[in-house]
Amino acid sequence: MPETTVAIVIGASRGIGRHIALALARDGMDVVCAARSTRDAPSKLSGTIEETASEVEALGQRARAVPCDIRQEDQVAEMVSRTTEELGQIDVLVNNAAVVVPAPFSEITSKRWDLMLDVNLGGTVLCTRAVLPIMLEQGSGRIINVSSGAVTDPELAAQLGIIPYAVSKAAVEALTTALAAELQPRGISVNCLRIESAIATEGAELADPGVDSGWEQPETAADAVRWLAAQDTSYTGHVVTMAEAREAEARKARP
Ligand SMILES: NC(=O)c1ccc[n+]([C@@H]2O[C@H](COP(=O)([O-])OP(=O)(O)OC[C@H]3O[C@@H](n4cnc5c(N)ncnc54)[C@H](OP(=O)(O)O)[C@@H]3O)[C@@H](O)[C@H]2O)c1
Repeated sequence: MPETTVAIVIGASRGIGRHIALALARDGMDVVCAARSTRDAPSKLSGTIEETASEVEALGQRARAVPCDIRQEDQVAEMVSRTTEELGQIDVLVNNAAVVVPAPFSEITSKRWDLMLDVNLGGTVLCTRAVLPIMLEQGSGRIINVSSGAVTDPELAAQLGIIPYAVSKAAVEALTTALAAELQPRGISVNCLRIESAIATEGAELADPGVDSGWEQPETAADAVRWLAAQDTSYTGHVVTMAEAREAEARKARP
């Protein structure tokens, strides 16, 4: 890693994204916190990008709160320009933002289908395409996508009524492995964290009100992203679960 490392975390206003921003800051990275909820335009859910950015600064790192709807290409371009103008480089992109609106497949409207595909897959594509010119010029970069255990558990996807979400996340995994092959010779890694178990966040609670304290905490997922961000760029094209990341870290720590 270079002396200064700049990360963009998409979906940093709350939930797992907020914890990813803090985990990367604890590893010495400056962090751009991007999402739609701001002090001036808060969501019904808790959390804003300014709050997360303040927490990053409290850890001694530079932070920027950049409002961005990742469905809007012009807003994504503006977010990337601000990052390079104000922080000088982009070393890590974490495509963490997602939405899920549960419904049985037969009842899903086209509008809801498009929303989930546009944010979860389309937003990942737009953010990735926007940072690539900078990473290609640098000759280095790490792109970390986030998928879900719903990809490998079709019965769960059907039971929870989250088929479009599962489809979008399966596409994110396919994007990860194919793009990794294209970018490997250019010094840019592309990996994906597949979050295989339920994490207690407000978003997850809304999607499945049966959430209880037995669910894992967002720090667990953030730790796995931190581990991916710390790998050499030759480590690329992997879809890893939180358990696999934990095991790999523990293996490395063993004498
Ligand atoms: N929690 C779980 O159990 C679980 C399990 C498997 C996988 N995951 C994955 O982990 C990631 C984070 O999940 P979470 O539970 O932390 O979700 P969450 O609490 O609902 O947070 C989602 C984040 O995405 C942002 N976002 C949504 N739409 C956006 C848009 N159009 N433009 C920019 N940002 C947008 C939200 O911010 P704004 O509303 O401010 O825009 C928020 O910061 C997701 O990719 C999810 O699929 C979670």
